[in-house]
Amino acid sequence: PPDLVEQAKELAAHRAVDNHVTPAVRVLGVGSGSTIVYAVHRLAAIRERLHPDLVCVPTSFQSRQLLVELGFRVGDLDEFPRVDLTIDGADEVDAQLNAIKGGGAAQLREKVVAAASDTFILIADHRKDSTQLGQQWTQGVPVEVVPFAYATVQRQIAAITPGSGPGLFTAPTPQPTLRMAQRKAGPVVTDNGNFVLDVDFGRISAPQVLFERLIQLPGVVEVGLFCGMAARAYFGQADGSVRER
Ligand code: A5P
Repeated sequence: PPDLVEQAKELAAHRAVDNHVTPAVRVLGVGSGSTIVYAVHRLAAIRERLHPDLVCVPTSFQSRQLLVELGFRVGDLDEFPRVDLTIDGADEVDAQLNAIKGGGAAQLREKVVAAASDTFILIADHRKDSTQLGQQWTQGVPVEVVPFAYATVQRQIAAITPGSGPGLFTAPTPQPTLRMAQRKAGPVVTDNGNFVLDVDFGRISAPQVLFERLIQLPGVVEVGLFCGMAARAYFGQADGSVRER
């Protein structure tokens, strides 16, 4: 039931905040999505235990708005280029803590903030806990492209072959689709004014190699594959426990 999923998101968020947001954390990166909302509310609940000059670096309009609403000081990377800790959600996390992110189209800023962080922590419900990317999350890998290039990037991605032997991924032909807005005629436009292609690769056996193939295509700004970045992941379970790995 969906309420158990929401409860699982909340459990993971609380555990990560309680374990990692010590008074030593001065600059905190705050990810995007529905799970991170629980983390921000937890921060508000334990405010007196936080660094008195805590600055939060949001990864999207969504998290910025939430942080401002709850009275947190928000800052940008130009002022705070080194982030102590970032907590973020994920669409799927594999056995090596590689992740697919960008279900909310925030992957570019999320990647930049994660890369600026000493420690990067993922929080999710049990549905995102996976051994191989593409196993649980079937909506594809989000690829952020400049609008001018979306069609050429789409063609070039469709021409990527999985390769022989074990292969990069299991889909015979990757299928890139332009993400469309829900209550507007036309494409989703990211916080950076770009489009998003969702690419179904099937199961991905070499996420880092695939990332390198995608990021070098002209017009691609960022790819929602986060490889080797997360130090830890927390998965809320339906039974009320938290799986940590
Ligand atoms: C935002 O673009 C994403 O990377 C989110 O962090 C991810 O989609 C997880 O979102 P939920 O917490 O809503 O599942």
